[in-house]
Amino acid sequence: MLELLKEQPADNIIALMGQFANDNRETKVDLGVGVYKNQSGVTPIMGAVKKAQALLLESQVSKSYVGLLGNLDFVQSMKNLILSDSLRSENFVGAQAPGGTGSLHQMFLLLRAANPNITVWISSPTWPNHPSMLRHLGIEFRYYRYFSEETGSIDFDGMMSDLAEAKCNDVILLHGCCHNPTGANLSVGEWDSISQLCLKNEIIPLVDLAYQGFGDGLEEDVLGLRRMAGLVPELIIAASCSKNFGLYRDRVGVALYLNENKKVLSLTSDNLKSVNRLTYSFPPDWGATVVSTILNDSGLRADWNEEVQDIRSSITHLRLGLRDALKRATNSDRFAFLGEHKGMFSRLGLTKGQVDLLRKDHAIYMVGDSRINIAGLNEKSVNVLANAVAKIL
Ligand code: LMR
Repeated sequence: MLELLKEQPADNIIALMGQFANDNRETKVDLGVGVYKNQSGVTPIMGAVKKAQALLLESQVSKSYVGLLGNLDFVQSMKNLILSDSLRSENFVGAQAPGGTGSLHQMFLLLRAANPNITVWISSPTWPNHPSMLRHLGIEFRYYRYFSEETGSIDFDGMMSDLAEAKCNDVILLHGCCHNPTGANLSVGEWDSISQLCLKNEIIPLVDLAYQGFGDGLEEDVLGLRRMAGLVPELIIAASCSKNFGLYRDRVGVALYLNENKKVLSLTSDNLKSVNRLTYSFPPDWGATVVSTILNDSGLRADWNEEVQDIRSSITHLRLGLRDALKRATNSDRFAFLGEHKGMFSRLGLTKGQVDLLRKDHAIYMVGDSRINIAGLNEKSVNVLANAVAKIL
C-alpha cells in the first residue's frame, strides 16, 4: 500500500550533505550544513562533554524512564542559561525535546491545538525547515521582510510594517541570535520595538535559539530575548544544544513557555506531557543529562564556557579573514557586510547559477541561496573560496 505515498521534496541542506559525501574530489570544501569544524575539519566532542559523559558512565545507576517532560534539572538549567537565574523563575514551564527541531515541533503542535486558525509569521529568508514544518503540520504561515540584499543588513522598517498586519494571537517566529541564513542580528532596541508591537497587538513571540554563544557571547547573545521576556505576557522559546554543546546527533533541546498565569502554565505543561506521550513518549535522556551535569558543575561549566569562547573566536577570525580575502580577490568592498554579521552563517549574495558553478568547477559546496557555514572554513580554504568567488563573478 505504501506505493500510494507521494514523493517528498528533499530538504536542500540535507540533500547537499549527500552530494558532498559522494564527491570524490580531494579538494572539496563543505560550507553546507551548519556544523562547527576545527582547523583539521573535525567536529570535535567538547572536553566538558567528554568529562561529563565519563562522570555519568560511572555514576548513573538506572536507565529507567525519567518522565514525560524529560530531565527537569536540565529544563531549569537551560531556563537559567537562556533567561538568567533571576528572571521570572516561577513563571515558566518547559520540556526537554529531541533537539531544537523537536522543541519547535512540540510547540507548533500546542499552538495549533490552541488555535487552529493561527498564522505564524516567519522571516524572509529563514531556516528552510521552518516553512517546511509548518506546511507539514498544516499551519498557516506568512513571511515578514527581514533582510535587505542591497544593504546586507536587516530591513527593520519592512519587518515592522509587515508585522503590523499580524492579528491578535498570531505568532511571530524570531531567531534568538545569529540569524540563519543571513547572520544579521536584531539590536536590543529592535528587540524592544518588536516586544512593544507584540504587547500592543497581542502577538505571541516564538524564539528559535540555536546558536547562543556563537555571536557575541553566551550572555550578550540573549540580551534582546531577556528584555523581551520582561516585557511580553507570553513567550515561547525553542532552544537547541546541538551547536553550543556540540551534541548534534544526541538531539538535545528544550521548549520553554513563559506566562504569569499559573493556570495557563499548568495547562501548557499538561499539554506538553500529552504531545510528548503521543509522539515519542519520553524524550531521549543522555544528551540532556550531559548538559545538565555541565551546567551544574562549576569546573565543567568553566571548561565549557572557555570552549564556546574558542569556537566563537575561531568563527569570528574566519569571518573577518574571509571578508579581507574577498576584498583582495575581488578588489571591491562588495563583501564588507560579512564583518557585520554574527554566528556561523552569512549569504554571499550569489545567484543560484554562481553557486552551481562553485560546486561544479571548484568543489565548493554551499546552500543554493549562497548561504555559507563560516565554521566549515579553515585558514587555507578561506583563500580558496575567495579566489573561486572572484573567478565566477
Ligand atoms: C543548518 O541550518 O544547517 C542547521 O541548522 C542544521 C539543520 O538541521 O539544517
